[in-house]
Amino acid sequence: ALSDSFGEPQAAGGETHQVAGGDVATLTSAQGMPIADDQNSLKYGARGPVLLEDPHFREKIFHFDHERIPERVVHARGVGAHGFFELTESLADVTRADVLQRVGEKVPAFVRFSTVAGSKGSADLARDVRGFAVKLYTQEGNWDIVGNNIPVFFIQDAIKFPDLIHAAKPEPDRGFPQAQTAHDNFWDFISLTPESMHMVMWIMSDRTIPRSLRTIEGFGVHSFRLVNAEGKSTFVKFHWKPKAALQSVVWNEAVKINGADPDFHRRDLWDAINAGDFPEWELGVQLFDEDFANSFDFDILDPTKIIPEELVPVRIVGRLVLDRVVDNFFAETEQVAFCTQNIIPGIDFTNDPLLQGRNFSYLDTQLKRLGGPNFTHIPINAPKVPVANFQQDGHMAIANRKGRVNYEPNSWGAEIGGPREDPAKGFTSFAATEEGPKLRLRPESFADHYSQARQFLVSQEPIEQKHIGDALVFELSKVERPDIRARIVSHLLNIDAGLAQTVADGLGLAALPAPAQAARPTVMDLPV
Ligand code: HEM
Repeated sequence: ALSDSFGEPQAAGGETHQVAGGDVATLTSAQGMPIADDQNSLKYGARGPVLLEDPHFREKIFHFDHERIPERVVHARGVGAHGFFELTESLADVTRADVLQRVGEKVPAFVRFSTVAGSKGSADLARDVRGFAVKLYTQEGNWDIVGNNIPVFFIQDAIKFPDLIHAAKPEPDRGFPQAQTAHDNFWDFISLTPESMHMVMWIMSDRTIPRSLRTIEGFGVHSFRLVNAEGKSTFVKFHWKPKAALQSVVWNEAVKINGADPDFHRRDLWDAINAGDFPEWELGVQLFDEDFANSFDFDILDPTKIIPEELVPVRIVGRLVLDRVVDNFFAETEQVAFCTQNIIPGIDFTNDPLLQGRNFSYLDTQLKRLGGPNFTHIPINAPKVPVANFQQDGHMAIANRKGRVNYEPNSWGAEIGGPREDPAKGFTSFAATEEGPKLRLRPESFADHYSQARQFLVSQEPIEQKHIGDALVFELSKVERPDIRARIVSHLLNIDAGLAQTVADGLGLAALPAPAQAARPTVMDLPV
């Protein structure tokens, strides 16, 4: 299969001067001018100085000099693949989204898996969250589910994201450690951010050292809305469940794999797809209404919480299959731009403060990363339906409309005056009712940081619980400051006394600290 896609290698021989002719195309400049000699720059005499005049040399080096674009500020290291999404159960009762109506219908998909903290060149098996970003090219435009392999997040409010990421990335003076959680800054921030404790249980579990990207789950994390043709809203959590089942390595293996083959996960995905062993996930949804949401003792807008599957079972409604590797890593995997705000009619946001912040952040960063506002023209980002609007110009504008009309409303005829808005088919936001004072405080319903952390821990098999304890001891033993170690143990005491003791013993703590006081001002503390 590989030789099919790359062509037969040329037979080895003594001849090293390769020229166009027969099936071999002519080398050209970016302007299309045929190139006679690509081996030598233009010189004054065979041994003389190189001439600045040489347009081929200048163009080639200029282009090379600009090959790099900024890596993603997070999720820099990734691997992408093409495939399709197929609906296996209609959700027509709860959403008008076209892609979720008719069983058996398929739409093209592109998925990018990533690690979060490491740079582009970091190792695949770092203990880290995995990004699981899905772009569905639907008949109503692109719908992105920009998820992770962990169903909850570290923070409740997007305003803390720069701090979280600064603390997780290499320390600014030394520029290390690369792509791992074991250092003072990360654990310092975590120890002062009790809301992260649920996520900490997940990242210390085997989920963050997956066997393969084919064996990870994916989660949309936030509560979203589905909105049906009558305008009725149903809350939804999105899940991707791997057909290959959830599998991880152990830390000892992860360390060895990183040393032997830092591209282990990328290579595994590439090889599996090329061998025809197509990775597959089921799309699951948890659906619940406002009354049900109000019956939980946590807030469904809080991204540090899951909706327990015992209360709301996951309903399988579709499948995602990856069946084609990329033709070009840069053009597709590197330039793909996912964004939580890319939704379609029938899907809508909730007030989750993390989601609301993300909706701003992705577009903003992509403006810089991809060099201007026209990155939706790049084929990997372009919708597979006609795009018609009056946006124009900017860097790399290649889709300016024809004709003299670039505004609406206009009174030109349909042919040159269109397109026009479509109230029936077009996106309308769910008309949620909002009220209340303008504040920066968090609601009381976001205040419990430990119950679900405990539930996750006890849901694990004994060997998995042991791995969590081992991981905490290993990671915290790399933390130099004793007060940070003790502060983490003070949180663990609020989760599980046995785990706290194990970690304290593993770290050689002389005595257990007092349990953490996790109180943070909430709306309840407002003066009346
Ligand atoms: C990138 C997931 C929270 C900002 C990504 C990517 C994923 C992801 C999967 C990689 C996309 C790709 O493959 O290109 C998540 C999840 C979150 C979360 C599941 C929490 C539930 C946030 C927050 C912010 C943020 C709170 C900022 C306020 C970014 C940025 C990028 C990114 C700036 C880089 C995008 C790019 O350069 O194209 N995120 N993220 N994320 N995320 Fe998040």
